[in-house]
Amino acid sequence: MISEDKIAEIRDRAPIAEVIGNYVALKKSGNSLKGLCPFHNEKTPSFYVHPSRGFYHCFGCKASGDIFSFLMHVEGKTFPEVARDLAEQTGVQLPVYDPEREAEHQRNKKQSQRLASLMEQATEFYCAQLLEHPDGGIARHELSDRGISEESTRKFRLGYAPHGWDSLVRFLEGAGASPADAEAVGLIVPRRSGRGHYDRFRHRLMFPIADVHGKVVAFSGRALAPAPSMEEQKEPPAKYLNSPENQLYHKGEVLYGLHEGRVEIRREDASVLCEGNFDLVALHQAGFQNSVAPMGTAFTEAHAKLLKRFAQKVVLLFDGDKAGRKAVREAHTVVGKAGLEAHVVTLPQGADPDSFLREQGAESLRIRIVSAPTIIEYLIDDAAASSESNPHAKAESIAKLGPILAKVESPIERGLYVERVARKFGITDVGLVRRELRRGLGRQTERTIARRDAVQQPIATRVSELQLKLISLLIDQPTLVNHEGVDKLPKLLTSPDLRAIFDSILQMVDRQGSLNVSSLLDELTDNQLRPWLEAKLAVQEHDLEEARQILDEGLPLLERKNIEHELPRLQQRIVEARRVGDDALAAGLTREFVELTRSAHKLKSNTKQR
Ligand code: UTP
Ligand code: MN
Repeated sequence: MISEDKIAEIRDRAPIAEVIGNYVALKKSGNSLKGLCPFHNEKTPSFYVHPSRGFYHCFGCKASGDIFSFLMHVEGKTFPEVARDLAEQTGVQLPVYDPEREAEHQRNKKQSQRLASLMEQATEFYCAQLLEHPDGGIARHELSDRGISEESTRKFRLGYAPHGWDSLVRFLEGAGASPADAEAVGLIVPRRSGRGHYDRFRHRLMFPIADVHGKVVAFSGRALAPAPSMEEQKEPPAKYLNSPENQLYHKGEVLYGLHEGRVEIRREDASVLCEGNFDLVALHQAGFQNSVAPMGTAFTEAHAKLLKRFAQKVVLLFDGDKAGRKAVREAHTVVGKAGLEAHVVTLPQGADPDSFLREQGAESLRIRIVSAPTIIEYLIDDAAASSESNPHAKAESIAKLGPILAKVESPIERGLYVERVARKFGITDVGLVRRELRRGLGRQTERTIARRDAVQQPIATRVSELQLKLISLLIDQPTLVNHEGVDKLPKLLTSPDLRAIFDSILQMVDRQGSLNVSSLLDELTDNQLRPWLEAKLAVQEHDLEEARQILDEGLPLLERKNIEHELPRLQQRIVEARRVGDDALAAGLTREFVELTRSAHKLKSNTKQR
């Protein structure tokens, strides 16, 4: 737990404009800065940063928050991670709660930093060898053969590991690196006989694998055609050799390309999942910069959760073979657990994304991606296409789809899927299909579905434009809470949520003389008008003079409107009181009515004068 004070201190010190500026090109616009939103796709800027308030807001997708939430979203980090990083950058000292754990944390961190710097050195070494080593040309040739540009080679820092047994060993020795560390991350391997180490990766095209923060944590080395200078190999080397798992690298949790793709994934609100290293680089190069690939393993739940931190949707782009189809079926369970929305692109038999791009071009792939069926549509189509045509086999295939369809939350969507099953299996009676699907289902699931269908969304309260306008003036110019007539405002606000906002502003200005955006928002977490408030906080519309003027006109106008709204109701109550014979009440209400009418007239002539 980090205290509120410390969080506030970090927030005050962190240069929000500079930090966000690393992700978004920002231009000055009044008191704010604006640019293209990193959280959704747009052509005209609607993303605003208000530096002195430490706050951002997008008018397009309504994303908003402070520097913490920005980094959490764009980097996919947790709050404590962001807080720790920012504390370090801004020089805020965080208190130590558990000295022993903290000491261990520091030791681990030091070691991780050492290992990471070693990986970084190795990356640089392999990059240099690609250009300088006499056999680097073989790797460069492979790249150009596969259509990988020099720009992509630089972007992904591709390299070449030479075939001598000790090139890296000697380089690391020269750099004063610890052999034990190099062994720990699997760059070098101890010799079986005698002392010393040899290089794990030899004569390979090297793909450095970065974690989401951009730290190289592993390598994947692709075998190359043998060099003339090499001795005869007894058996052909494995196509890929990957780093073993180590302190930095857990293969089920790393996605190749995620660091490079994370901002684009957010913007598109979708990632593309492919299988191979070449596919990944080729996809980015062709403009699909939201692509990622697991490291030679199946798609895990940890992968899915990682992706979900950046986008809701994932497009599975697997090879068009039997293994690819199986991978989709397995991915269905994984995305279901993580709550990701998955779509599936089918490639022609024998093609992978890399070869498809070279043969058919980016546009052709783009069409397949945007028109990709949902994973459930895919599974239905696949079941229908692969089922034998006899009635028994058909019925079995349909029953197997039951549990898959039962997980679909929306009843409308589910209904459409049922119709698709009927269509694809060539059955005209949808009721029959429904029964067959149910047969494949556990009984209890149906009840949960029925309950889910009954849940309804709350309806947002409606508030008049004028009331919102008046409060927004106070947000722009908080000192106006003490302006003449503003004390009447609480009575005039018809929405409890808006009144709560007014109260918070008033109290805060009384207490500290100004508005603190984050504590204001903290006080109003459950407020229905919070999205509106966030939008207002992001841009300052009115200067003091303007705000004062609009307030002077708006207050009496609101008062009059409220009265005009009240009068017919009063009249109604008078009629009612008379009907039941309560003359005293009727008289009292009538006096009220007359007074209100009078003040309405007065307000009307006042507002006209201006
Ligand atoms: P592929 O065999 O499809 O490789 O394996 P590729 O990248 O498309 O290579 P090319 O196009 O044949 O040259 C897909 C991924 O599975 C992992 C690698 O990450 C590879 O990119 N893999 C494959 C391994 O880890 N080990 C292997 O032996 C093979
Ligand atoms: Mn391939």
